[in-house]
Amino acid sequence: MNPLLAEVRVGELNDASEMAVHRLVSAFPPFNHYSYQLMLGKIREQLMFKTHVMLWDQGQLVGYAGWSLAEASEAQSWYKGAQTAFPAPKMQNADAAIVTITVVRSSEYLPLAIKAISHQCAGLQVYRLRSFQDGRPDMRRPPILGRTQHIFSYQRAYAQLSGLLNDLYLRASGKAGRLNFPIPIMIEPSQIQTVFRQPERFIKNYQFLERLAEGRFTTNNDAWQKRSRLTQVFYNNATRQVPLNRLKTLYQSFLPSSTAGKSAVFNGALQAAVCAVSEAFGLDEPIYWPLDKVEALRNELMLLQAIELFGGSAQEVETAQRNMDSLRHQIVQHWQQNPALAKWLHTLTSEFSAELELVQNMMAATETTAATVEWMAQVLAAQPALLAELKQTGVSDEAGELTLLAQQFILEVLRLYPPVPFITRVCQFAKPEDDDFQANQAVAISLVGLHTHPQFWKQPMRFWPQRPEWTAAAEGKINLQHPAYLPFLTGPRVCGGRKLAMLELQAALDVLVNHCEIRTTSEMPKVSYGMVSRPA
Ligand code: HEM
Repeated sequence: MNPLLAEVRVGELNDASEMAVHRLVSAFPPFNHYSYQLMLGKIREQLMFKTHVMLWDQGQLVGYAGWSLAEASEAQSWYKGAQTAFPAPKMQNADAAIVTITVVRSSEYLPLAIKAISHQCAGLQVYRLRSFQDGRPDMRRPPILGRTQHIFSYQRAYAQLSGLLNDLYLRASGKAGRLNFPIPIMIEPSQIQTVFRQPERFIKNYQFLERLAEGRFTTNNDAWQKRSRLTQVFYNNATRQVPLNRLKTLYQSFLPSSTAGKSAVFNGALQAAVCAVSEAFGLDEPIYWPLDKVEALRNELMLLQAIELFGGSAQEVETAQRNMDSLRHQIVQHWQQNPALAKWLHTLTSEFSAELELVQNMMAATETTAATVEWMAQVLAAQPALLAELKQTGVSDEAGELTLLAQQFILEVLRLYPPVPFITRVCQFAKPEDDDFQANQAVAISLVGLHTHPQFWKQPMRFWPQRPEWTAAAEGKINLQHPAYLPFLTGPRVCGGRKLAMLELQAALDVLVNHCEIRTTSEMPKVSYGMVSRPA
């Protein structure tokens, strides 16, 4: 289940919440036949005592459940029918809850609503009262024990990481940030270059990703050298092995015909990216990388990343690790059962697990590209005039090169919405003669801040593909060596797959512009986070 399908909140009693809940609940049987006063009284009570959960999706209330707290003995006697009257509400030291209202706008929200009730009523015996309007007597359901649900840890992680990213955008727009970052955030190009040019001194510390699998993305120094030699040869060959037309075919098969559905563009792009990487590796079949398992892995990773930054319980870490191990095991087992892939993995290396290396590479190679394609679709939806212009100029010329506007568009998407929006490193030793970094000092680099640095970008917060910084030189090429532009980083730890990524983005943009129905929206996308930066 996607925990981000809807946001679960416990609300306050106020006019807005009362009206929203009443409007939702009274639209569904049996509540549409209840007296207005009775309904309103119950809802008011549940809002006031916070004995409820609300499910919100894109600003709309899509689910509501409310209950009364009671003493377990009274609730049990009510359940058995020994007492017909509803137990008196008990606000303190209650050990049971009787759910009296559950309404969801669509059945897809029901599992989340049930988990939300269980989570809010953790430790209580939860009974459910079901009423009918056709004369049948009320049905009293046996109790279940409410429990803490891991799924809500994902929601908290998502809110924390999205909050952090939005804070970076707030600072980028010249306002004071709201969060107190425990480590300094850098946006100055010269300082950032210092860090990226010295990978042995500023090492990676992505423990949350290491918990998924060991691979080149997270290792340092000699271990990294070995691992990068293993895969870089494929990435370097990728543009020859996967020509632009083949990538267009892939994106055309997987991107949705209309951009309306939630996550449809991301999921389609993810599948196309999996095929692209598989072909880059010289494989005849796409590597098994199923959407549902990957979504589950992403949630666990996001949770672990949030715990690293904001803290969390040992039990959450344990559960996340257990879930992740099991998912990864299922994926790797599938790979081992595929003779061609198993053979390929076997020939790669015996020094360490090629399977684990591949797990990490698949994550690095697909999440970022899919998120960028999603950003491109959202920006096109908000800028119909630009879409029309791209339709007219085209995305690729006859030689297969990006047209100027298409190139400016892709560069600008990666500038304002860098998929990897911030990066962390730990300094290993001081060099007082050169700079002020201390041994063991952790640093965070905001690519959002760098890409919107006011000394390097005119009107930095404006999405402006034809901005002066992207003006082509005389021969029609844009100089990409901008000092405050590093969506793929720089130095030895630069993105291993950037050439393939750029080619994929070209193919995907072509498909979006020429083959997709882009549903217009009134606003530029808002920013949220899901392992990489994603439109909200
Ligand atoms: C728009 C798409 C992409 C973006 C914006 C992007 C960005 C990045 C960034 C910023 C890093 C460095 C992270 C860090 O050091 O903390 C990175 C690393 C990496 N990326 Fe990408 N990436 C993209 C697509 C890809 C693709 C398609 C592949 C593979 C086919 C790939 C493979 C890798 C690998 C292997 C690394 C680790 C490099 C190393 O340290 O050895 N990426 N990427």
